[in-house]
Amino acid sequence: MEDDKGLDLRNVFSLHPSGNGTLMRGLRHLCRSLRAALRKASRRAPHLCMEWSGGRPPATPVPDGYRVSDDRIEAAAWAGLLNAGGGLGPWDEQRLRLETARLVPDTQVFLTHGGLPVAGAGVYDRDPGSWEIGWIAVHPEHRRRGLGEAVTRLALDRALDLGPRTILLYTEDHRLDALRLYLRLGFRPALRHRSHRRRWRSVADRLPSEAAAQVVSSLQAPHMTPQTLPESVGQCSDCLHIRRVASERGSVFVLCRRAAQDLAYPRYPNLPMSDCQGYEPCAVDEED
Ligand SMILES: CC(C)(COP(=O)(O)OP(=O)(O)OC[C@H]1O[C@@H](n2cnc3c(N)ncnc32)[C@H](O)[C@@H]1OP(=O)(O)O)[C@@H](O)C(=O)NCCC(=O)NCCS
Ligand code: SF4
Repeated sequence: MEDDKGLDLRNVFSLHPSGNGTLMRGLRHLCRSLRAALRKASRRAPHLCMEWSGGRPPATPVPDGYRVSDDRIEAAAWAGLLNAGGGLGPWDEQRLRLETARLVPDTQVFLTHGGLPVAGAGVYDRDPGSWEIGWIAVHPEHRRRGLGEAVTRLALDRALDLGPRTILLYTEDHRLDALRLYLRLGFRPALRHRSHRRRWRSVADRLPSEAAAQVVSSLQAPHMTPQTLPESVGQCSDCLHIRRVASERGSVFVLCRRAAQDLAYPRYPNLPMSDCQGYEPCAVDEED
């Protein structure tokens, strides 16, 4: 708010006897509105959630030239696969260790080519009510050959073998390749945040007609009531990093996803939460 001579314009307007204080109040109001609009625009939204719609899919053949690895894959090669497309953020062995701490033993599947992992997915035990299929990735040079489908189905088989829990996965609005794949396999939208219904509608607008119809018909299903958190849980209720999870007995837990990357955060925060250093408000939408 300083002009090029270093004069503070706030003082000029507010002290001027001609009543420019009104103009100053207007400017302040404009600045506040702009700041609020910028804050809103920069807020991210929590991941979309999809649930397995049931049954066991038929066995998936692994495409020619690839094989399911029975060998131990080195952490560096695994991090290399997750790094390869750049779409999953930067990976090193430390991040890999933290992110895979909840991987269920013997559920990580790799498809290899020439001895190197080119596709991977695993099953995670992040909450008592569900098995989460996570970190699905195919090396960019090997995409659109059926590896994504094969590796996700193999991980799904392992999740189905683990016992009766909801099988779900988390994804993002812009991952249209992944969303088409998950819909084709039989995963369907689950509403875990008040922004989800609107965002799924917008995803449907960008999908081919068959996939879009699957999304729309799931959103119309009678059981599709949003499962959101009440404001009484404090900051966690609209934090980007929260996941609402439910046990088989119907108890609801609040899980902090920051804990997967930073041990300073508790997996199950003490509620109500206030003054959390990691709080990032997510885009808020009205429920329908
Ligand atoms: C999403 C992802 C895993 C899909 O992997 P993929 O190996 O390309 O998946 P598939 O080959 O099974 O299917 C992709 C497409 O190729 C098609 N396809 C499969 N085999 C094919 C073949 N032999 N010839 C031509 N097309 C083929 C499929 O029909 C599908 O078509 P569609 O996109 O029009 O529906 C991959 O794009 C990826 O790793 N993305 C980055 C990481 C990411 O987003 N992960 C998900 C996080 S939630
Ligand atoms: S504990 Fe903090 S970072 Fe984690 S979900 Fe709650 S507010 Fe967000």
